[in-house]
Amino acid sequence: MSPASLGVALIGGGFMADVHSRAARAAGARIVGVTSSTPERSRAAAERIGAESAFDDVDALLADDRVQVVHVVTPNATHHELTVRVLAASKHVVTEKPLATTVADAVDLEQRAAAAGVAATVPFVYRFHPMVREARTRVAAGQVGRLFSVQGAYLQDWLLAAGDDNWRVSSEAGGASRAFADIGSHLCDLLEFVTGERLARLQAITSTVYPERASTGPVATEDLAGVLAQTGGGAVVSLLVSQVAPGRKNGLVLEVHGATESLRFAQERPEELWIGRRAGSELHLRSTDELHPDAARLSVLPPGHPLGYQDAFTAFAADTYAAVRGAAPEGLPVFADGVRAARITDAVLASARTGDWIDL
Ligand SMILES: NC(=O)c1ccc[n+]([C@@H]2O[C@H](COP(=O)([O-])OP(=O)(O)OC[C@H]3O[C@@H](n4cnc5c(N)ncnc54)[C@H](O)[C@@H]3O)[C@@H](O)[C@H]2O)c1
Repeated sequence: MSPASLGVALIGGGFMADVHSRAARAAGARIVGVTSSTPERSRAAAERIGAESAFDDVDALLADDRVQVVHVVTPNATHHELTVRVLAASKHVVTEKPLATTVADAVDLEQRAAAAGVAATVPFVYRFHPMVREARTRVAAGQVGRLFSVQGAYLQDWLLAAGDDNWRVSSEAGGASRAFADIGSHLCDLLEFVTGERLARLQAITSTVYPERASTGPVATEDLAGVLAQTGGGAVVSLLVSQVAPGRKNGLVLEVHGATESLRFAQERPEELWIGRRAGSELHLRSTDELHPDAARLSVLPPGHPLGYQDAFTAFAADTYAAVRGAAPEGLPVFADGVRAARITDAVLASARTGDWIDL
């Protein structure tokens, strides 16, 4: 099977349908079709993204033999049921984060995917920036030294006003956690991916700044979360996650401090890695000839030709399709990583409720 022959279909016709379809095409797949919440919306989405077909419903999509890989890009609370159906049809699957809204459902999906023997991935796409791979390689090679501390943030402002609303605000559609499940999950995935250490315990505070929002009514999900944590190796971690930070659009920043070096990656400036030293700090720009092999593999344009979010998505799709064809690409986020994010999110909510430290 050549990459060009892979047939991809999407369940969900919103923002992520656009991003995934561009990534899938750039990775060599064809977009066989899409289905959304109604047949009319399916047709509108198919036209917008240029899919070959609009499927009236999920059954029609799954019954089509052209479809080999299904991307589930719907609101969070639907991920479990839809992914169960995709796996029952023995199709390869990409399910958006959060993989599921409970730990039990995420574990169930991991087990079903293993039993189905298909590729099953989760788009923790920030792993696919070359400078993230560069940071990860430096930590693994010992250049950073023993890890002392990590500071991370993922800040946005799109829910800043009380009138701002979205399905994510409702726990019924988005799950019990909002800001943390939505973007804190990316931050923790990136932290554990880059450092190679796992969060061992944490304590969290969450805050809901507006008791009500425009159409959702009473709000039970958090606008922001602060987390204090410790890694298995003893490093001290502080994280801030917010969807109500004025001026911050997609401010994902990870800074790690070791005995020899600090590293800082900011996803809005993904071509840069800051390397801090007591003497001789430097801003390392992506430069193909200096990169370690895992970063060089993802560095698909010459230096000075900026790679960004959509390129990271394309690299994720390409590695997913390589896994479909039997390869084992380095650093591919799979359902086990979705389970990990669900466990951390669960711990954050539990600690915020009780004030206790929670072991992971
Ligand atoms: N990995 C990332 O970087 C990233 C970024 C944004 C969103 N996401 C995730 O992607 C998912 C979708 O988010 P979005 O921003 O595209 O949302 P969206 O609201 O823009 O789109 C959701 C789409 O799903 C459709 N839909 C709803 N219920 C459905 C059902 N039962 N069957 C079929 N279609 C249904 C809606 O009509 C809509 O077209 C979420 O889980 C979100 O967390 C991931």
